[in-house]
Amino acid sequence: MNKYIFKFAISLSFLILGCSRDTNLNSSGIDVYSKVDSIMSLMTLKEKVGQMTMYSGDWDKTGPVVSSNNIKFIEEGSLGAMFNVYSAKKTKELQKIAIEKTRLGIPLLFGYDVIHGFKTIFPINLGHAASWDLEDIQKSARIAASEATSEGLHWTFAPMLDIGRDPRWGRVSEGSGEDVFLTSQIAKAYVNGFQGEDLSSNNTLIACAKHFVGYGAALAGRDYNTVNMGQDQLRNVYLPPFKAAVDAGVESFMTAFNELNGVPSTGNKFIFRDILRDEWGFRGFVVTDYTAINELIPHGFALDEQHATEIAIKAGVDLDMMSGANRLYLEELVNNGKVDISLVDDACKRILLTKFKLGLFDDPFKYSNVQREKETIYKSEHLDSARKSAAMSSVLLKNQNNSLPLNKKETIALIGPLVKDKNNIIGNWAAAGDRNGKAISIYEGIKTHLDDSNILYSKGCNIKSDDKSGFSEAISIAKKADKIVLVMGEDYHMSGEAASRTNIKIPKIQNKLIKTLRKEFPTKKIILILMNGRPLDLSEEDSFADAILEVWFPGTSGGLGVADVLFGVYNPSGKLPITFPRSIGQVPIYYNVKNTGRPISTENPSEDYKSNYIDSPNTPLYSFGHGLSYTKFEYSDISLSSNSIGVSDILSVSVNISNSGNYDGHEIAQLYVHDKVGSLTRPVKELKGFKKIFLKKGESKTVKFQITVEDLKFFNGKEYTVEAGEFDIAIAGTSDISFTNSFKLKP
Ligand code: BGC
Repeated sequence: MNKYIFKFAISLSFLILGCSRDTNLNSSGIDVYSKVDSIMSLMTLKEKVGQMTMYSGDWDKTGPVVSSNNIKFIEEGSLGAMFNVYSAKKTKELQKIAIEKTRLGIPLLFGYDVIHGFKTIFPINLGHAASWDLEDIQKSARIAASEATSEGLHWTFAPMLDIGRDPRWGRVSEGSGEDVFLTSQIAKAYVNGFQGEDLSSNNTLIACAKHFVGYGAALAGRDYNTVNMGQDQLRNVYLPPFKAAVDAGVESFMTAFNELNGVPSTGNKFIFRDILRDEWGFRGFVVTDYTAINELIPHGFALDEQHATEIAIKAGVDLDMMSGANRLYLEELVNNGKVDISLVDDACKRILLTKFKLGLFDDPFKYSNVQREKETIYKSEHLDSARKSAAMSSVLLKNQNNSLPLNKKETIALIGPLVKDKNNIIGNWAAAGDRNGKAISIYEGIKTHLDDSNILYSKGCNIKSDDKSGFSEAISIAKKADKIVLVMGEDYHMSGEAASRTNIKIPKIQNKLIKTLRKEFPTKKIILILMNGRPLDLSEEDSFADAILEVWFPGTSGGLGVADVLFGVYNPSGKLPITFPRSIGQVPIYYNVKNTGRPISTENPSEDYKSNYIDSPNTPLYSFGHGLSYTKFEYSDISLSSNSIGVSDILSVSVNISNSGNYDGHEIAQLYVHDKVGSLTRPVKELKGFKKIFLKKGESKTVKFQITVEDLKFFNGKEYTVEAGEFDIAIAGTSDISFTNSFKLKP
């Protein structure tokens, strides 16, 4: 019997505490609650607080580095979880210390930001959301989980479910865009993908819904900034994706850095105790964001660290990431009566429960398996899958005169700072992804389709600089080519955390290069491939380029996936999950706005004293849901099963979609509803369903959706309800629609 099993056997021999609870059997039929109670009965207060403390292993830096003495803390039982450390070897080493050197041998929990892949990197989350392909997103999360768990990780700090409506905020790249329905569906796909079907299997990566809540509404798009919002926005827009994650069984939640209506999230009892636990019945644990307990002081919400610690635990926070606050102050707070021991017990119990569910008490080393690690990382099927995801996530914003797809016989001038890039292409949250060579560049991808003699290359300029010395070479190769293909955009540091921008154009030097090329070659086709982590203001580039393909940061196999789209091997099907504005002045701009009392009319949008600008149209450059294909899809014959339904009825809606172009292809049919009158005003349109279908050229299909009252519910200021009345309904390939059909909901 090894030392660990021996320790655990002793713990089981203790009387099981008789607290009331639901039975929660793990896959082997063992009541994990009893096990937790049994081990808790052996723990000192210090050991319980240890379980509520997490430090970074400092392998990766994801926030200010706080000097830590991890090994000593593990040995004395003051550390229950670690992050930013991975590999089967390292996690095993650290786990061994926890098991062999501590009094009770409680296993460590290893967390990490596995956001859009672990080693095999998938498109950034905003990009993957553009695929609207829930199956593919779920699969990417499963692959990430299998790679990450083979390196000893148990827990990912994902999915990020913050609604993103402000492209100044760099973190829109990490979420699924601006829409409540789409983000909620994607939330479930990620949770199911990461966590798999059986928490106790050795490839379960428990998920973490973050950042709770409202972070995406940071004032002026500045990271970490203040958030003020009423119940309408909070309950109808920002909360639903998190509720979807709870419904999917997510095991953990993370606090947000922002304050919400004057109360910082990490000290916000209303959101963690009242909503998350009491209203939604969440049973997992809550971790803070990085040093967020300490940040209650500069927020002006706590006097000092001890006060901050007291506020956080009372608000419902269980695990302290990086603040060291629990470790330093919690025992004292309990001993001097400021914090009831029951709060510590509850928090510790929730964390231990997860460790039990993961099976770590049965075998603490089961995740750290060198052999499995070798067999799993960068498996060829993972790389193939990432290639498909990159293709599916690309959005064809514009394609004048069928400039794309490229033809194998054409010579192209491949120009731009991101053509040969293997570093930015995997995006900002690329976790353990390799930035030095593993990724396939767009250049390499194109080379798999075109002969070398048909590719002329020039970098042209750097991503950001004033140096125009490469322009002349770019011009000279462009002269010899049939088409100009530009690969441009942001570097990976320009989006993600702490990367807010007040200017959302592509860097000036790149804009100058494309302008110069257009001037030199007024009629030559220019195709712009864009890598970026946010909606950009493309008003100028849109006027220079014949075609624009948004590929986001497409990941490890990105070059291959993008090239598949460029050459028509994959007919683009991506649709924008977030609006692209005409200018920064329109921000925040999103499709499901309210109508106002003075809406503009289509006939005269610039009429005086209407809700418009005097210097810009209200409309965006590219709408939510927009995305072209090489073929043409036509929608006709929308039909409703009835013109009026009762509260328990199901409305069936169907539409005919036909592929009238020259290519086979996928289309994402989107269903929008408009609740015309509400006791709280309702948005002008809301996505309520979508389906990805495949049509061969010339083929037609009837696509069916069903609507129930659940789809029409909203929070009316007092309760979630559905109100009788008239609803407009439409199905289209974009959110840029006019409604032509409607139905009534009877009281
Ligand atoms: C981010 C989180 C992340 C954490 C750990 C923080 O700075 O806001 O999203 O999970 O760091 O790396």
